[in-house]
Amino acid sequence: MNKIVLKGDIVFTPDKDNFKTYKNSYLVAEEGKVIGIYRKLKEEFKSYPIKDFTEKLIIPGFVDIHLHAPQYPNRGLGYDEELIPWLDTYTFPEEAKYDDLDYAKKVYKRVVKDLWRHGTTSAIVYSSIYKESTKLLMELFIEANLRAYIGKVNMDRNTSDKLKEDTEKSLLDTEEIILEYKDRSTLVKPIITPRFVPTCTSDLMEGLGNLAMKYGIPVQSHLSENRQEVEWVNRLHPDLKDYASVYNEYNLFGQTKTIMAHCIYNTQEEMDLMAKNQVFAAHCPYSNYNLSSGIMPVRKFLDRGIPVGLGSDISGGHSLSIPNIMVGAIQASKMKWLHTNKGLKPLTSSEAFFLGTKGGGSFFGKVGSFEEGYALDALIIDDSTLGDTEGLSLEERVQRFIYIGDDRNIVEIYVEGKKVDEPM
Ligand code: GUN
Ligand code: FE
Repeated sequence: MNKIVLKGDIVFTPDKDNFKTYKNSYLVAEEGKVIGIYRKLKEEFKSYPIKDFTEKLIIPGFVDIHLHAPQYPNRGLGYDEELIPWLDTYTFPEEAKYDDLDYAKKVYKRVVKDLWRHGTTSAIVYSSIYKESTKLLMELFIEANLRAYIGKVNMDRNTSDKLKEDTEKSLLDTEEIILEYKDRSTLVKPIITPRFVPTCTSDLMEGLGNLAMKYGIPVQSHLSENRQEVEWVNRLHPDLKDYASVYNEYNLFGQTKTIMAHCIYNTQEEMDLMAKNQVFAAHCPYSNYNLSSGIMPVRKFLDRGIPVGLGSDISGGHSLSIPNIMVGAIQASKMKWLHTNKGLKPLTSSEAFFLGTKGGGSFFGKVGSFEEGYALDALIIDDSTLGDTEGLSLEERVQRFIYIGDDRNIVEIYVEGKKVDEPM
């Protein structure tokens, strides 16, 4: 049996309101799942291999629930535009390159390596429309031993000629990937990925909803990121009440597990439907700043019991670092608080940490926490270079790492109780 004990200063957020901390304690796992945390190691675990990280922090691996792998070369480019022109001038031309497998391999290797380096142990990823390079991306994640959902993008209208798919072929390619990958790996799974309503005909969305239901495959898309986008959707589907109703009409809104990225301009009714169908919202604050999209009222989602996680939204967002994005989310929520006359309370540090670990992790199941039964996905953090630790609580050391630490402080990474070395 695969057994392991990690010893150190253990911190996680079983709920959003509290950091749970264990100074100099033992985190025990069997078969990749947490058994418990002990201040003194029980007799029965003394024969287990112990990794001694005394004085170091042990925290859950980070979870990024929204990013576009083929946009990686575009980080930092084109942010003088808003969403729609940015897609046309930067995003679509870059994504059109991924029928070239050599090019795809070069970029995707770097994406996987950099996710690992930044401690992102679970990710929910868009590839491009291209089937073969999507499979390549899935293989790279499998090889790296990182957890992921990966989706071939579907689009058959309102994009460049090269990226505009034939509806039937788009569905056939998607089904082929589902059949080949749904049981191929325990860590890496397919996800159905209509890009967003403006680029998907009703026939395509209907077909994708059918595939989701037939095979029980989750769904990801974008929702209400930008005002012009929302108006465009209303013009395209005047018969339906709102943006969310279009996805819901085609069984793409919580009929199987679903994530919607951004959710800045949702109506009350759309939020009610998300709560009812337990649709996840991916909060991507950096992307929302860079593309002048707006500030998601994340407090409203939390108060309604809508599940929320964090997304880098590469390359709308420029940074892969989930700690950076936690900071961005806190800062955005503070501006929102001021702009709502102190109506929507800002995120606390434990809430931001929760969103970037267990909040997003719950899309995968028991991921993002160290409670009993959770996957032992963990990061070992050496924060000794960030200043004295004396006199600081474990909670404060984690706060400091989030704000001023970086990938250099992450010294080891575990997924399902196994050490994950640098990929490729
Ligand atoms: N909406 C549709 N496609 C995209 C994309 O690639 N990035 C972002 N930020 N929003 C989108
Ligand atoms: Fe996106």
